[in-house]
Amino acid sequence: MNEDQRLIQFEARINAGEKIEPKDWMPEAYRKTLLRQISQHAHSEVIGMQPEANWALRAPTLRAKKILLAKIQDEGGHGLYLYSAAETLGVDRAEMIEQLQQGKAKYSSIFNYPTLNWADMGAIGWLVDGAAIVNQTMLAKCSYGPYARAMLRICKEEGFHQRQGYEIMAKMMAGNDAQKAMAQDAMNCWWWPSLMMFGPHDADSPHTKESMQWKIKVESNDKLRQRFINRTVEQAYHIGLTVPDPKLKYNKETMNWEIGPINWDEFWNVVKGNGPCNHKRMAHHIKYHNKGQWVRDAAIAFAQNETFVTAL
Ligand code: 3HC
Repeated sequence: MNEDQRLIQFEARINAGEKIEPKDWMPEAYRKTLLRQISQHAHSEVIGMQPEANWALRAPTLRAKKILLAKIQDEGGHGLYLYSAAETLGVDRAEMIEQLQQGKAKYSSIFNYPTLNWADMGAIGWLVDGAAIVNQTMLAKCSYGPYARAMLRICKEEGFHQRQGYEIMAKMMAGNDAQKAMAQDAMNCWWWPSLMMFGPHDADSPHTKESMQWKIKVESNDKLRQRFINRTVEQAYHIGLTVPDPKLKYNKETMNWEIGPINWDEFWNVVKGNGPCNHKRMAHHIKYHNKGQWVRDAAIAFAQNETFVTAL
């Protein structure tokens, strides 16, 4: 078959809801955009460990510390699943990590905000992981097999992350005035950056049309954002939090909570590297990635020795 015939067959498979596997023929543009998205997703998971690790030694109780450590460990595991899924597209994780460290690859802008008190841990779990669940539940239907399958386990663990965050916020909102003020402050800090996690509006998204045509995305950025807003506004009200949006209003016909304008200048400014923590996050990643080189060398030597011994 020539390229045109292969493309027709590929698109028929996508439209029939088939999963594309690593050894299957795929258009180069499909492979490229998947590699872009999955590697950046993996980078986000790993960088996302930093803001929470900041509180591992300061958690208010042993129970809270154990939960936070479990969550941070989960995020590292999500990064490994996703680097493994990305590697099935023909690029080694060392190369992906080099692109991240050289600023050639992105990670989610949300992780460039500081975590200044314990309520930020609650807001991250509840809002950031809550947004990730909405997005990742959709990605579990992605046409690329390894990515969709990675989402199944990740989504189960995100459920625990979202609940532990909401529990922190609920406890603080049931606490004294100072705790209530901390929780509301965290809501004010994290609400809008969480909405930005879903990406630009569909009309401004260069990738959405093609990603939806090839069922990498089966729902658009705005549709997922709206689902998250509808779910989260009710949760906020349930524990007495105020949503920091004076234009927020409920539309009885569409049954959607309608929000005010998102500050896309802030979004692109952070994506471009000018957020509060961009430099700190990257310097930390480079320092500890380099410090861990001996672990990678030892694992490779062990694997090679294993092969050698088995060969004997
Ligand atoms: N932060 C940084 N960059 C973003 C962004 C964000 N929140 N949203 C969009 N962008 C970038 C895109 O990467 C793209 O840039 P690129 O061409 O250099 O890759 C550009 O903005 C245009 O955006 P599009 O909407 O056109 O791009 P996509 O179609 O890729 O959609 C996305 C963006 C919805 C983030 C999609 O890439 C996606 O679903 N990614 C997988 C999920 C993911 O990465 N989530 C991030 C958080 S992971 C997490 O929260 C872990 C949890 O456990 C805490």
